[in-house]
Amino acid sequence: NSKIQIAIDGPASAGKSTVAKLVAKHFNFIYCDTGAMYRVLTLKALKANVDFADEDALMTLLADTQIGFEPGEPVQKVFLDGQEVTNDIRQPEVTNNVSTVAALGRVREELTNRQREIASKGGIVMDGRDIGTTVLPNAEVKIFLIASVDERARRRFADNEAKGIHTPLDVLKQEIETRDYKDSHRKIAPLTQAKDAVKVDTTPMSIEQVVDEIIEIASKKI
Ligand code: C5P
Repeated sequence: NSKIQIAIDGPASAGKSTVAKLVAKHFNFIYCDTGAMYRVLTLKALKANVDFADEDALMTLLADTQIGFEPGEPVQKVFLDGQEVTNDIRQPEVTNNVSTVAALGRVREELTNRQREIASKGGIVMDGRDIGTTVLPNAEVKIFLIASVDERARRRFADNEAKGIHTPLDVLKQEIETRDYKDSHRKIAPLTQAKDAVKVDTTPMSIEQVVDEIIEIASKKI
C-alpha cells in the first residue's frame, strides 16, 4: 500500500464523515474529520463565552486548545483538552455558529497547519470543505461529494432522530442552506470543487455504493 492522501470535500450533510471513515478503514489509513476541529473551537468559545467574531480572543483560546481523535463506533471519538465532546460538537448551537468561526483567517491558518501536520506522513483520508483546494493541494485523490439539499436534510433528520434531537425537516433544510451559503461565500478558502477533483453525486446512492466508488478511484493510485 502506498501512503497516499485522499481529500473528500463537499457541502454540509453530504455524508463525508461516514464515507471517509469507511474508506480509511478499507485502506488502513488514518481518518481526520477537519469539520470536527472547527466545531471543537466553536464549542470551547461557547463555553468560555467568547464572541464568535472576536478573532483575537479566539486565537488566544485556540493556542491553548488540544484537539484529539480516537477510533470509535459508529463515529470517531473527538476530544477537547482531553475531555470527550463527540456529541457536544453536534449540538445545534455549535452547528449554527461554526461557519462564523470558520470564516476567520487566522483561525483557518492555525487549523490548516495542524491538519497538514496530521496528513504529513500520508496514509490519510481527510474530509472537510477546503482539503483538495487548500489544505492538501497535492493529494493524490480528490473527491467532491454532493447531494440535493432535500436529500441532505432527510439524512440529517434521520441522524438527529436517532440521537433524540427533534428539529423539523424544513428547519434543517434552511440551516443546511444557510451554512452552505456562508461556507461557499467566505473570503478565505471557500467551499469549492478543486479543478482535479472527481464529483460524486450521492443523491440516489447508498453509503456502500459511495464507498465502493471512492475505493475504486483511489485503488488506481495506490
Ligand atoms: O463537516 P462539518 O459539517 O462538521 O463542518 C462544520 C463546519 O466547519 C462547516 O460548516 C464549515 O464552516 C467548517 N469547515 C471548514 N473547513 C473545513 C471543514 C469544516 O470551514 N475543512
